[in-house]
Amino acid sequence: MPDQGEDRPTDLVAAVTAVLPGARADLERLVRIPSIWADPAHADDTRRSAEAVAALAQDAGGNDVRIVAVEGGAPAVIAHWPAPPGAPTVLLYAHHDVQPTGGDDLWTSPPFEPTERGGRLYGRGAADDKAGVMTHLAVLRAYRGRPPVGVTLFVEGEEESGSPTLTALLQEYRDALACDVIVIADSANPAVDVPGLTTSLRGLVDVTIEVAMLERQAHSGVFGGPVGDALTVLCRTLATLHDEHGDVAVPGLVTGTTDAPDPDEATYRGDAGLLPGVELIGTGSVNERSWLKPAVAVLGIDAPRTDQVANVLLPRARAVVSMRLAPGDDAAKAERALAEHLESHVPWGAQVTVTPGRGVAEPTALDTTGPAYDAARRAFSAAYGTAVVESGLGGSIPFIAEFARTFPGAAVLVTGVGDPASRWHGIDESLHLKMFGLGVHAEALLLAELAPAPRTA
Ligand code: BES
Ligand code: MN
Ligand code: MN
Repeated sequence: MPDQGEDRPTDLVAAVTAVLPGARADLERLVRIPSIWADPAHADDTRRSAEAVAALAQDAGGNDVRIVAVEGGAPAVIAHWPAPPGAPTVLLYAHHDVQPTGGDDLWTSPPFEPTERGGRLYGRGAADDKAGVMTHLAVLRAYRGRPPVGVTLFVEGEEESGSPTLTALLQEYRDALACDVIVIADSANPAVDVPGLTTSLRGLVDVTIEVAMLERQAHSGVFGGPVGDALTVLCRTLATLHDEHGDVAVPGLVTGTTDAPDPDEATYRGDAGLLPGVELIGTGSVNERSWLKPAVAVLGIDAPRTDQVANVLLPRARAVVSMRLAPGDDAAKAERALAEHLESHVPWGAQVTVTPGRGVAEPTALDTTGPAYDAARRAFSAAYGTAVVESGLGGSIPFIAEFARTFPGAAVLVTGVGDPASRWHGIDESLHLKMFGLGVHAEALLLAELAPAPRTA
C-alpha cells in the first residue's frame, strides 16, 4: 500500500465521526414524515419525503438532483457525484417509503416522533429504510461531496408496495442509473457489532382468494346445518396451505439447504416475539426455513368484526395469502401453483376466484465473487473490527432482481444497518445508533476500497 493509503482510513474515521450528529438529526427529520406510499392518504407525505431527500442530496454536493416518477408511481430521487478519472461508478440504493404503523397507540412513543431509548432510535422507518438513506448521505458528506468513486444515489419511494413501477422507471432512467457496482443499504447485520452481507433473498407473491356460497345472508338457525358459510369454507381452504409439520403444502416449489449454523433459539424466539410454549413450524434448520424454503402466511381476511356480528351465514369471504419463495424459484410459476392449490382445495363446491396481488418480487442468490465483494469484506471487517458474516435473508427486495436484469454486469452488494432487534414493519421499529455509525464508516471505507489505487509515480 502506498503511504497515502495508510493515512486515508484515519482521516475517514474522523470525517465520519464529524458528520454523524448531523446525519442523525436529518434521519429524525425524515422519520417525522409519514411516507406510507401504500396508503393513498399519505401520497403528499411521500412527495414531501422525496423532496426532503432531494434537498439533502443537493446539500451533500449532488449534481442533477431530480425527483422522478412514472405514471402512477411513487416519487424517487436520483442524484450524481461524477466519477474521478478512471474510477468506477457506484449506485447507492435505499427507499424512503415506509410501512403503515400497525396502530399508533400500540407504540411506546409515537411512530413519527423519533425518540431515543437505550441507544436506539425508535420510529417508523428509523431502520427500514430511512437509516439506509442517511447512511448514503452521511458517507457523501464525510467525503465533502467528492467521493473517490462516481456515485449515483437512487432512493425509491414504493419498495414497501412491491415496487410496481420500478421496471418502467429503470427503463426510463437506464442511462442515469448505469453503474459498475450497486450497494443496497436495506438489509440487516446479524448482530449490532457484526457486519453482514446478505447473499440471497426470498421472492414474494401474493393473491386474493374469494369464496362465494350464497346469494345473500341466510339465517344461521333456519338454514345452518345443511347450508355452510363462506368464512368456514375460506378457513378450511387456508388450512390446507401447510402440512401436518407446518411445511408449505403447495406443490412444485423450490427448496434449498444450508449448513450455516442456526441462531441461538432463545434469542431467535425473543426477536420474533414468540409466546412461551409456541412451537416453531416446518422442518429443516431455522436458517433453511427462513432463507431457502417457501413460507406462506395469511395477511388479512375480509369478514365481519367480532363486535358487529349477526346470526347469519356469510355469503362470501376473502383473504390475502402471501408466499415467500426460495432463491431459484420463479415468481410467476409459483403464483400459479399457489392459485391452483387454492382453487383445488375449496370444499363443498363453493365458488372460488383467485386474483394476483400487488406485484411480485423475484428471489435472488447473488454472485459473491469478484473484486467488489473482496473490497466489501475488507471495508466491513475493518470498520466493525470483526469478520463479515455472509448469509441469506428471508425478506425480499424487489429492486434487486429487477436491477440485476437491467444491468447484468454490475456487482450487487446488499448491506444495511438493521439488526435482528429492529422490528422491521412492527410496533416500536428502531435503529441501533452505534451500529448506524459503524455502518456509515463501513460504507465510507467501501468507496475508498472500490477506488483505483492512487498512482505513486
Ligand atoms: N428492508 C426490507 C427487507 C428486509 C427485511 C431486510 C428484514 C432485512 C431484514 C424491505 O423493505 C421489505 O420489507 N421488503 C418487502 C418487499 C415486499 C413489499 C415486496 C418484504 O420483504 O416484505
Ligand atoms: Mn426496506
Ligand atoms: Mn420493509
